[in-house]
Amino acid sequence: MDGFEYRNGVLHAGDVPLPAIAEAVGTPAYVYSADGIRSAFSRLMAACETMGAKPHYALKASPNLHICRLLRELGAGMDVVSGGELERAWLAGTPMEEIVFAGVRAALSGRFSPLGTAAESFGRSGIEARGPVGLINVESPSELERLSAIAAELGVGAQVCVRVNPNVDPKTHEYVTTGKDRNKFGIDVDQVPPLFERYRDDPYLELVGLHVHIGSSVRQTDPYADATRVVLALVDDLEAAGHAIAVLDLGGGWGAEYESGEAPSVDAYAAAMAPLIAERVAQGLRVIIEPGKKIMANAGVLLTRVQHIKQGRTRRFVICDAGMQTLIRPALYKAFHFIWPVQIEAQHLPPKRAEHLDLEDLVRCDIVGPICESADFLAHDRDIPEVKRGDLLAVFSAGAYGMSMTSNYNDHGRPVEVMTDGGKATVIGERQTLAAVLEREREGRGLELGW
Ligand SMILES: Cc1ncc(COP(=O)(O)O)c(C=O)c1O
Repeated sequence: MDGFEYRNGVLHAGDVPLPAIAEAVGTPAYVYSADGIRSAFSRLMAACETMGAKPHYALKASPNLHICRLLRELGAGMDVVSGGELERAWLAGTPMEEIVFAGVRAALSGRFSPLGTAAESFGRSGIEARGPVGLINVESPSELERLSAIAAELGVGAQVCVRVNPNVDPKTHEYVTTGKDRNKFGIDVDQVPPLFERYRDDPYLELVGLHVHIGSSVRQTDPYADATRVVLALVDDLEAAGHAIAVLDLGGGWGAEYESGEAPSVDAYAAAMAPLIAERVAQGLRVIIEPGKKIMANAGVLLTRVQHIKQGRTRRFVICDAGMQTLIRPALYKAFHFIWPVQIEAQHLPPKRAEHLDLEDLVRCDIVGPICESADFLAHDRDIPEVKRGDLLAVFSAGAYGMSMTSNYNDHGRPVEVMTDGGKATVIGERQTLAAVLEREREGRGLELGW
């Protein structure tokens, strides 16, 4: 269903055997399945229909232009958080009115500087006026103040959603919790009505709605229902004070569906929210959701080659060419990724992608990378079929927040990205060479300091 399956003991992406990709482009490599993306997105679209919502892909999850373009072709709007992401969304063909932006000047100016040949190949060349983005989410009173000043300076109007901090616990890792009052995100509920009052007659800004995003990898539906209730009560208060609320952006964070079944389906998330908003949707409320991981996580794997096996006194280490520089999620927030050899014997066909599998002849090991940090691991205490130097491992569910969070730490170039579609494989992002890594340091540049 996600585009990756074992056929005769060899892991395939679509119809392409992964060893052939490793042979052609080397490792580490991110491999995405176009069919996996299509199928995740169509399930999401169906769920969105039941709740009357439109999905805007949070492209921070996996920002590759080819992936954005595919999702755009499938009908996704885009959710962006920086000028750079805005360029990507636009290059991928998204009309400005279907982009939701959490940021300021670039969103309003409606100008862009095309970035060399990438712009040409995506048919977006020349300096063009493209108008402001459709919706801007702000999350502090001072951001709103700045937005109002810039809008006045540019003479451009903007529609704005105010991000609310609902003080709801999403019951996920603390580093990806964003909806509690101790988190930096959003504005406390009681501070929102005065803001709507203050900007009621702003000549450029129109406060059209509310935004809420409680966290990432949220594996329960209740926190969404709780947050939606908080936001709806606020909508009631604002409407009673004479403000028209036309948009509700209910954020992203829906946990990825590992085959272990630990995350609810898209239908379950939608079902938790749909009854709460149904009446307002029927009255014309525009509802947006901003998922990233739910679309992309399972549509990508990280392909890595075993470099060494080391048997320590208490542990066996499988040392790979991918590590925290390639996939930081395990080190950053102890994220679980199912890891399995690309080529296996029949008895090791994994019945599901869970942390512990009841199979014969597995060997317990730590799967680690080449970086000089003890946090450099992909998995601890994992039972996998025995592997040797040169074997390939697949790190599953790496399609979201994998490539986008890579680094050059220890001077490793960023990995190559490949997308398969049926029996075809395309390099959609070249491996970064060491020459490219060093290029920005080629010459020193004296600074003219004005003081
Ligand atoms: C405001 C906002 N919306 C959407 C997302 C997407 O989250 P996810 O990929 O977990 O669905 C994020 C993630 O950080 C976010 O901060």
